[in-house]
Amino acid sequence: MTDAAHGQRRIEWLESVCVELHDEFATLDDGAPASYIPELAQVDPDHFAIAAVAADGRRQMVGDHSHPFTIQSISKLLLYGLALETHGREAVLERVGVAPTGDPFNSIELDDRHHRAPNPMVNSGAIAITDLVQGGCVEERIDTVLALFERFLGRRPDIDHDVCASEYATGNRNRAIAYLLLNAGVVEDRVAETLDVYFMQSSVLVTAGDLALIGATIANGGVHPTTGERVIAPQVTRDMLTVALTCGMYDYAGEWAYTVGIPAKSGVGGGIVGMIPGVGGLAVFSPRLDEHGNSIRGVKVFEALSERFDMHLFDFDSNRTWRRSA
Ligand code: DON
Repeated sequence: MTDAAHGQRRIEWLESVCVELHDEFATLDDGAPASYIPELAQVDPDHFAIAAVAADGRRQMVGDHSHPFTIQSISKLLLYGLALETHGREAVLERVGVAPTGDPFNSIELDDRHHRAPNPMVNSGAIAITDLVQGGCVEERIDTVLALFERFLGRRPDIDHDVCASEYATGNRNRAIAYLLLNAGVVEDRVAETLDVYFMQSSVLVTAGDLALIGATIANGGVHPTTGERVIAPQVTRDMLTVALTCGMYDYAGEWAYTVGIPAKSGVGGGIVGMIPGVGGLAVFSPRLDEHGNSIRGVKVFEALSERFDMHLFDFDSNRTWRRSA
């Protein structure tokens, strides 16, 4: 069989496995949508989508793949890339390190030894990164964020203003974190404005299909799989992938790296995006969360796909034909 024919078979296999996993886990009703932000508890807990986009743009979509939900912490990954691109690694590392914390994502903490936030995937690092978003006022800085999304998606996404208002109304933990950062000299003295941008960027509406496309672009070294345009520099995607692997799944990151082995980021809206370098992006959307804030069905689907397709980064004899043929 030629490589192309073999690859085609793998793609068809991936599609049938995604359908199978969707059927299998659609009945799993453990966990519940996030409720610490009241508006997030209003979502239908049974929405479920699996989406894959290969490095050449071929896609498989199953279930509610066009249903919009708030991106939540997954945007932390994109903003980290933007900060690296805009300010350079050195300036970013001065403010935010790359050490996994093992603590919940909203812990009120700093890396005291280095006087910086521990990593960009927890709230303290993400708020420090949000401070670096350029623009003269909140509106301009939000525009900078939406322009970033547009580079990946080819359109400006909407913002869920109800979720954003709910984040604002219940965001005192994030305010505590931001003032701790201000006290340590990590962020500028414009905390209220930076938090407005932070709440907005969490409330950007995406679909599972969008997340898989974003994942595929990052996995593809920053080149958009369908337009062929460079969205982000390859050395920046390398750093994004690294922190996704070590810190992207909150205090579950170690177990995730061990069992799934795919750089990934999750959000309390129920999305998880995974990036298989050189191969493509995978996304799952299901708002029922576990105690870490990760989508329960999402974790199950990633575990199964990683296992069946040898997608763990360190699978020695990994057959990544999905990449070559896609
Ligand atoms: O800071 C917050 O609470 C949210 N806007 C982001 C939450 C999130 O997804 C973090 N991890 N799950």
